[in-house]
Amino acid sequence: MAFYKFNADFLLEKRSFIGEIFNSLGRTDHSFRVVRRGRRIARFTKPSFFIWVLLLFAIFLISFAAFGLKFQLPGNFEILERSSSSSHKFDTSGDGERSVKFSNEVQQEFSGSYDVEKTLRSKRRKQHFPCEVGFSEAVDYLIEPQDLRNFTQFSLHYVDTEEKTLGITSFQPRFGGHQTLQEREKSFYARNQTVHCGFVKGPSGLPSTGFDLDEKDKAYMSNCLVVVSSCIFGTSDFLRRPTSRKISQFSKNIVCFVMFLDEQTLSKVSLEGHVRDDKGYIGLWRIVVVKNLPYDDMRRTGKVPKFLSHRLFPSSRYSIWLDSKMRLNTDPMLILEYFLWRTKSEYAISNHYDRHCVWEEVLQNKRLNKYNHTAIDEQFNFYQFDGLPKFDPSDPNIPLPSYVPEGSFIVRAHTPMSNLFSCLWFNEVDRFTSRDQLSFAYTYLKLRRSNPDQPFHLYMFKDCERRALAKLFHHRALPSPPLGP
Ligand SMILES: *[C@@H]1O[C@H](CO)[C@@H](O)[C@H](O)[C@H]1NC(C)=O
Ligand SMILES: *[C@@H]1O[C@H](CO)[C@@H](O)[C@H](O)[C@H]1NC(C)=O
Ligand SMILES: *[C@@H]1O[C@H](CO)[C@@H](O)[C@H](O)[C@H]1NC(C)=O
Repeated sequence: MAFYKFNADFLLEKRSFIGEIFNSLGRTDHSFRVVRRGRRIARFTKPSFFIWVLLLFAIFLISFAAFGLKFQLPGNFEILERSSSSSHKFDTSGDGERSVKFSNEVQQEFSGSYDVEKTLRSKRRKQHFPCEVGFSEAVDYLIEPQDLRNFTQFSLHYVDTEEKTLGITSFQPRFGGHQTLQEREKSFYARNQTVHCGFVKGPSGLPSTGFDLDEKDKAYMSNCLVVVSSCIFGTSDFLRRPTSRKISQFSKNIVCFVMFLDEQTLSKVSLEGHVRDDKGYIGLWRIVVVKNLPYDDMRRTGKVPKFLSHRLFPSSRYSIWLDSKMRLNTDPMLILEYFLWRTKSEYAISNHYDRHCVWEEVLQNKRLNKYNHTAIDEQFNFYQFDGLPKFDPSDPNIPLPSYVPEGSFIVRAHTPMSNLFSCLWFNEVDRFTSRDQLSFAYTYLKLRRSNPDQPFHLYMFKDCERRALAKLFHHRALPSPPLGP
């Protein structure tokens, strides 16, 4: 299955599409002559076809370079959106200024057909396939290892309400609270303490800060021990049910599969034929409707269930996060066994298939116009000032195999260190941009640096393993919902 992972793959896709037509012609028998002619055409044009495509693309680029400043091409937004591998929608809240910036970026990126060809060649070598993952055979006998209790222990509490501070006249309660930089600095220490971690309420009388759930759903969620969860907000994606036949009865009995949706998305997926049954399920997913979304930016709202499952499911011991672009086709208990128990880890996340340095990630985010460039720079400058290093693959003691994660799949034990890391990472997304790939390494390294004697067992697995667990799709191609700054 080919994906539009890179800009250049778009061309490759077209090429193989034509090949497919020839092949499918070959399969029907009434079209023998067509096939032969098709083959002859193919033979004649195969070597030169690629050159033709390149030439056409070069002409397109030249005209785009010449006129790109004058018009906005929805088609190209589409291509770039598809080319982005990341789990988020492209920011189209752009005004004139932003689209100018965008066009300039495109020109810089493709400043000539030579560059295009080079990109094309180097990208063609990089195909991304799933790899073999040595899961256990069955789940019934899996036993949680006892030595997991050996993880760093302390007791973590969360800021529940914030009162109006004296001297502030216009106090606006926020879901993420109003953490000061001093409080932020202290929050990195692994010790008994109370940290900001979302779900901060304002003083009584003021409206809710958001992420409101039905009491019945809350009661259900508070009993979950093992959770698989995902979300779709702002109709950004299709609903994909976990592959039921790949999931054991044991797991179906023990695991809560929860899909968070806003009301708009619920009605959209209902129209598409996914209707809740009497008990509130669509397939294995229990649908939980979220009202009063805490952020205008849907991607930032999506970080609440992504990072804060230990808050949403307060009794849970384990959780698996799955981006809505993926369909789970592996038993969740086997996933826990493989990624956490076998590796003696409390947090597992995959590395990025391509980029390992935050410097590259920043460039890529700007190139694809993923977020307000000023806000990216503010965040990145802050991190550099606070000691974020470049990724150095030649360093034998490198603390992580990559400083850029592919965060669409996260496996967690809800231990104190793991929960603290989740809160800290969420707070970065709340304070700076919602691009969590930018804050992952900084948060991890600062946590480690602040607690040299208290280990945090994070396991960064290979991207190809992530691909083996779930089937990947594209996000729904839609104009993005309105976004905040
Ligand atoms: C527990 O952790 C300590 C250091 O963190 C280690 O020395 C010890 O071997 C561990 N015990 C077990 C049973 O894994
Ligand atoms: C931290 O809290 C735990 C229980 O919540 C307690 O047993 C422990 O003594 C506390 N540690 C410190 C250093 O206060
Ligand atoms: C971009 O971010 C900067 C700094 O955070 C902010 O001042 C500015 O208003 C934002 N621009 C847009 C168009 O949202």
